[in-house]
Amino acid sequence: MLVVDFGAQYAQLIARRVREASVYSEIVPHSITAAEVAAKNPVGIVLSGGPSSVYEEGAPSLDPGILELGVPVMGICYGFQVMASQLGGEVAKTGAREYGSTDVALDTVTAGDDSILGGQPAGQTVWMSHGDSVVRAPEGFEVLARTSSTPVAAFADPSRGLYGVQWHPEVKHSTYGQQVLENFLHRAAGIPADWNPGNVIADQVAAIQAQVGEGKVICGLSGGVDSAVAAALVHKAVGDQLVCIFVDHGLLRQDERRQVEEDYVKSTGVRLVTIDAREQFLTALEGVSDPEQKRKIIGREFIRTFEQAQAALIAEAEADGDPIKYLVQGTLYPDVVESGGGTGTANIKSHHNVGGLPEDLQFELVEPLRTLFKDEVRAIGRELGLPEEIVSRQPFPGPGLGIRIVGEVTFERLELLRSADAIVRAELSEAGLDGEIWQCPVVLLADVRSVGVQGDGRTYGHPIVLRPVSSEDAMTADWTRVPFEVLARISNRITNEVAGVNRVVLDVTSKPPGTIEWE
Ligand code: XMP
Repeated sequence: MLVVDFGAQYAQLIARRVREASVYSEIVPHSITAAEVAAKNPVGIVLSGGPSSVYEEGAPSLDPGILELGVPVMGICYGFQVMASQLGGEVAKTGAREYGSTDVALDTVTAGDDSILGGQPAGQTVWMSHGDSVVRAPEGFEVLARTSSTPVAAFADPSRGLYGVQWHPEVKHSTYGQQVLENFLHRAAGIPADWNPGNVIADQVAAIQAQVGEGKVICGLSGGVDSAVAAALVHKAVGDQLVCIFVDHGLLRQDERRQVEEDYVKSTGVRLVTIDAREQFLTALEGVSDPEQKRKIIGREFIRTFEQAQAALIAEAEADGDPIKYLVQGTLYPDVVESGGGTGTANIKSHHNVGGLPEDLQFELVEPLRTLFKDEVRAIGRELGLPEEIVSRQPFPGPGLGIRIVGEVTFERLELLRSADAIVRAELSEAGLDGEIWQCPVVLLADVRSVGVQGDGRTYGHPIVLRPVSSEDAMTADWTRVPFEVLARISNRITNEVAGVNRVVLDVTSKPPGTIEWE
């Protein structure tokens, strides 16, 4: 299934919803030609929404040949208007804009059971976001729905396999949205629902085996979900041809190293080399409080450590007469789409975020997650039997706890922060808030002290900041309204159990203006 991207932030959402309907989808730019589409041999096409007006000079359009390939097409919002105007219908600014939840009336007689609106109530609420409207459907199309201000809110020409809706079925606020997509996919276009994480594993294992053959492979594990799943897939494909490197820089959270070294290794069987660089990082960070300087030092030391470990493994492999040729990367589909539109190899971010890889090493990359979204990666991790602590892990910055201590990073402060962070994570999980919270940095204000009274005596301790945020993509975020009783339990436990902390405060700033991390 191809999703033609007309520049809306909705294209990725559409691609995900299509996959939720068990149909594999890929995003392509609107500049794609009919010949290029034909070469991909898609089973169906969805045209996404977009911010433009079809009649504006330079507005993105579609190669008209795409609508003549005989491949079923459904237009959404702008995609619907492009289809209407290119096939001879009329799109105009009616003056009636619709944004947000809108009531729509379906023509249930023409809708019929096989239609994209089949089996749906005649009146329903949908999510709209448009200033232009289709005022006349092209010849051959039946109008399937209308709203009080949009005379053509959905149409179909089943004989040509062409369909469209003005609203956004991919948005959860459209009550029957997913059903519209599934009707298009399964009923109108007849595409079977046969894509799932299980067959992704089988396909990827075969692809990795074909790419790597007998070659040796190396992978840096961060402790996060992407590299863990990527390495597990490669290991399933080529076994001990893969060696993983894990750098313990001492800025990890409680139990993370053990989870990788014991639980992950036990569940996958990968060969793991852990580099204990705790001393090295602490020494390099001595006396440094400036956030930017800390980040630079941590980045530099990480690259240095990783390169040394890599060089040792390369030398060992070369001595065996069997050099390492491949490097595993946990690049995800959104990185690919955002950097190169998913079409070519130019500008692909993954080539820049190779962890500590000198440019002249010329490894060939193995990227088994390149076509997947994060939630799919987690599903595959579970299917592969990886530990839940790793599979469901929330985002954690590369510089780790080093940028969650405001002030100099020392061993004692790290220990203190690790204890507080473990309490917060345990209590938030216990309260069932993991799904709602994108991540919750726990920050130690090491340069701030305040007076407290603990155990009948005066204390002069440090505050711990809780920064729970809800977000879709970390670009913007809102502070999560964690229930007071959960906050009370966290505060109580931290001040009782973590020596040196006599105050717990809550960060109630959205992003912007505040970033998620404090440094
Ligand atoms: P900010 O603080 O910029 O964070 O709002 C946005 C997201 O990025 C994560 N983050 C990092 N991730 N290396 C990383 O791998 C970093 O240096 C880094 N700094 C911030 C942060 O945890 C949040 O998810």
